[in-house]
Amino acid sequence: SFPRPLVAGNWKMNGLRASHEELIKMQKGYSAELKGKVDLLICPPATLVHAFAHANLGSRIGTGAQDCHAQQSGAYTGEISAEMLADCGASYVIVGHSERRQYQKEKDADVAEKATAAHQNGLIAIVCVGETQQEREAGRTLAVVRKQLKGSIPAGSSADNLVVAYEPVWAIGTGLTPTAKDVEEVHALIRSDLRRILGKVEADKVRILYGGSVKPSNAKELMSVPNVNGALVGGASLKADDFLGIATAY
Ligand code: G3H
Repeated sequence: SFPRPLVAGNWKMNGLRASHEELIKMQKGYSAELKGKVDLLICPPATLVHAFAHANLGSRIGTGAQDCHAQQSGAYTGEISAEMLADCGASYVIVGHSERRQYQKEKDADVAEKATAAHQNGLIAIVCVGETQQEREAGRTLAVVRKQLKGSIPAGSSADNLVVAYEPVWAIGTGLTPTAKDVEEVHALIRSDLRRILGKVEADKVRILYGGSVKPSNAKELMSVPNVNGALVGGASLKADDFLGIATAY
C-alpha cells in the first residue's frame, strides 16, 4: 500500500536497560516478509535512545524519542534537544503527544516549534493530534483536529520529515477505540487539510497513523481503513509478540 505503512511503538515512561531483551526479540521477529511490507519504529524513553539506536543498526527498526525541546541548547535544566537526540542516533521524535499537551500544558505553537527543531536536526517529527471525550461528545472532533493540525505543523514540513498521528485522547490506554467509520472520517479530513498545507503531491505521501488502544486483535480492522498508514502503539508496543502481531496486520 502507499504510502508505506509505519508501525511505531511509544514506550512512554516504561523501560529499563533490561528491556533491551524485548528489542532483540522484535529484531528477530522482523522477518524479511514483514520488512517488505511495513516499517517499524520504537520510541523508548530518552535514557534508552542511544543504546536502542546502536542495537537497531542493521536491523531496519527505527529509533525515535518521545519529545524534544524547541531550543538547540542552553540553560534549560532537565531538557533534551533535538540535536542531542539526533546525536544519539534517533531518526524520529514524537511531538505534541496528548499526555504532554495535558500534563506539560503544551500548546499547538509549542508543538510547531518542537517540530521545527526536529526538522532542523534532520529528525522526522511525529505530530500528534486528537480530541478529548468531552470534545467528541460536544461534536467538536473535526474542528479540534483541524485547529491542532493547522497550529502544530510548521513551515518546512514535507513527506520526508512529517508523520501525523491521530490519537483520540479517550481511546488512549482505555481499551476503547472509535469505529472504523469514525477513524475514516477524521483521517480523510487530515489528508485533505494536509493537501491544503503541503500541496497534494507531498500530502499524499505523508503517513497518517492511528493511535489509541491498538492491539493485535483490532489492528487488521483499524489498519485497513482508508488513509490509515500505520499505528502509534502505546501499551501493546512493550511486548515483542503484541507489537509484531500488530505489524503483521499488513
Ligand atoms: O502513543 C501511543 C498512544 O498514546 C496509544 O497508547 O496504545 O496504550 O492506548 P495505547
